[in-house]
Amino acid sequence: MIRKKTIFLKLFITYIVILFVSHFVLAIASYLLLQNNLTNMHQNLNLNQLHTVVSLFVMSSIISIAITGLFAYYLSKKMTAPLREMNRAALHIARGQFDQRIKIKTRDELGELGETFNYMAQELAGLDQMRKDFVSNVSHDLRSPLTSIHGFVRAFLDDTIPVDRKRHYFTIMKEQTERMIKLVNDLLDMARIETGQLEIHHDIFNLSEQVRQVIARMEPEFVKKQVNVELISEEAQDIYVFADPDRIDQVIVNLIQNAVQFSSPDCSVEVILEKDEQAVVSIRDYGPGIRQEEIESIWERFYKADRARNKKTGTGIGLSIVKHILDLHQSPIHVKSEVGKGSIFTFTLPMAPNLSKKPE
Ligand SMILES: Nc1ncnc2c1ncn2[C@@H]1O[C@H](COP(=O)(O)OP(=O)(O)OP(=O)(O)O)[C@@H](O)[C@H]1O
Ligand SMILES: [Mg+2]
Repeated sequence: MIRKKTIFLKLFITYIVILFVSHFVLAIASYLLLQNNLTNMHQNLNLNQLHTVVSLFVMSSIISIAITGLFAYYLSKKMTAPLREMNRAALHIARGQFDQRIKIKTRDELGELGETFNYMAQELAGLDQMRKDFVSNVSHDLRSPLTSIHGFVRAFLDDTIPVDRKRHYFTIMKEQTERMIKLVNDLLDMARIETGQLEIHHDIFNLSEQVRQVIARMEPEFVKKQVNVELISEEAQDIYVFADPDRIDQVIVNLIQNAVQFSSPDCSVEVILEKDEQAVVSIRDYGPGIRQEEIESIWERFYKADRARNKKTGTGIGLSIVKHILDLHQSPIHVKSEVGKGSIFTFTLPMAPNLSKKPE
C-alpha cells in the first residue's frame, strides 16, 4: 500500500517544495528590492507600510500555493493513474486472467508503456491458449489408441475374439502402439527444438542412396495405402550433400508420409532429385491439395488443414519439425499446391563432392 502511493507522494511533495522555495526566494528578493529603492530615495521604511507589503505578499502567496497545490495534486494523481491501472492488471494476469488490458489515453512514455503492457498480455494469452491446445491435442491423440488397445486386451482376456481373428487385432494393436511411439518421439523432438537442444551434425552423404533406402523402408505403408511411390532422377551419378543424414532422413520420411497419407488409392507420389548449384529434393503428390490461405499455417505445430477430413490421421506436428530441421540447416522449403490437383514440397541442400569418385 505504501509502495503504491510512493510515486504520487514524491511528485506531490516535489511540487510543494518547489513552490515554497520559489516563494521564499521571491519574498527575500522583493524585500531587498524595496529596501534598496527606499534607501535610494533617502526615505526610511515606515513600519506600517512594511506590514501592509508583507501581509499582501503573504496573502497572495497563500492563495497561489493553494491553487497550484490543488493543481499539482490533480496532475500527480492523473500522471500516476496509468501506473496504478497497470499494477492492477498485472496482478490479475499473475492470477491467470489474461484478458486484462490497459486503456491507453496518452501518447507519452506512459502511453507507450501501456501499449507494451497490452502487447505482453496478448502474447501471454496466446501462449496460454497454445498450452491448453497442446494438452488437449496430446491427451486426445494418446487416448484414442489407448482406448482401442484397452478394448482389444479385454476382449482377449474374456476370450471373445475368435482364434482366426486374433492376428488381425494384434496387427491393429501394433499399429496403434506405433502411432503412440511416433507421437511421443515427435513431442520429444519438439521439446528439444524449443529448448535449443536439437543439434545438427553435418556430414557428407549420398542423398540419392538415402532416398532409395527410405522408399524401400516405407514400402509396406505404400502397399497398404495402395499408393505407388517412385524416385525420379535424371542425374547420371548419385548426388552427395553436406547435411545431417539422420535429420534429413526424418524430413524425407515426413514429407513422403504426408504425400501418401493424403493421396487416394492408386494415385502416385514422386520423389524428384535434381542437381543445380544445390541439391534439390521435391516430393509431389496428386492428392487433395492445400488451400492457399492455409499454406502459411501448415508449418505451425498441431495445425491440420481441414480438420474434419484429417480427424483420424496425424497430430499436426510433422511439418513443424520438418521446418525446424531445415531452418537449422539454413535450407528453405517451399510448397506449391492446388486444391483438387495435388501438392509439391521442395527443399534444397548444399552439395558436397562425390566421395565415390576416384581421384584422376
Ligand atoms: N501432401 C499434402 N497434401 C495435402 N495436405 C497436406 C499435405 N501435407 C500436409 N498437409 C496438411 O498440413 C497439415 C499439417 O501436416 P503435418 O505433417 O504437420 O501433420 P499431420 O500429417 O496431420 O500429422 P503428423 O505428421 O504429426 O503425424 C496436415 O494435417 C494436412 O492438412
Ligand atoms: Mg505429417
